[in-house]
Amino acid sequence: MEIDVFTLFPGAFAWFEAQRHVANALSLGHALAYVNYRDHTPLGAGQVDDAPFGGGAGMVLRVDVVEAALRARYRVDPVELRGRRRVLALTPGGRLLDDALVDELAREPALTLLCGRYEGFDQRILDHLTSGEVSIGRYVLAGGELAAMVVCDAVLRKLPGALGDERSALEESFSEALDGAPEYPHYTRPAQYRGWPVPEVLLSGHHARIREWRLEQARARTPPGPLP
Ligand code: 6GU
Repeated sequence: MEIDVFTLFPGAFAWFEAQRHVANALSLGHALAYVNYRDHTPLGAGQVDDAPFGGGAGMVLRVDVVEAALRARYRVDPVELRGRRRVLALTPGGRLLDDALVDELAREPALTLLCGRYEGFDQRILDHLTSGEVSIGRYVLAGGELAAMVVCDAVLRKLPGALGDERSALEESFSEALDGAPEYPHYTRPAQYRGWPVPEVLLSGHHARIREWRLEQARARTPPGPLP
């Protein structure tokens, strides 16, 4: 999979790239690349944003700047690009990221993620240059970079070989293998601690019974939905 992140702050991703599962994915041949809008702006002085028509606070990422960056990267009209690869803008109001969407994105051969800053994107970017919007929750972040990292993190760890042990991704929280339920509880040594017991069944070595117990536990946990 090839992920391109368009951002004004490519340096923000340095820590993210050092994460084990991300480094694993990259060493397996997957690619993460960054395009800085500022490197391709047709405007003077590295300008990328502008005041909103109609007034109001903040600055808006310009459509001509985003088009120029997309053109520079892909050498095609961005209006056609979105038919060839998924071009997603990160916006607070976009489609909420969940396990199903992560799976969907992990099946794509290529993704383009557009990070906004300031007050966000000129609406024409969203209407004409992207194939959709993704949100990581109903709150507002100062920019799309953290959200892009969340998307990349969740997608890359789904790719075969990214995790140390392939079993980790199969039976995890919200996965189909658990009927969309949160994960079952885990315990490790010490088996005895302050009188807090580890469930007997996990120490029994009885794999069928352990499996049954785990599924039961997963189903009994708070289902996805309103949390406290
Ligand atoms: Cl994707 N972007 C921004 N700026 N804020 C967000 C978000 C995205 N998702 C939740 N809040």
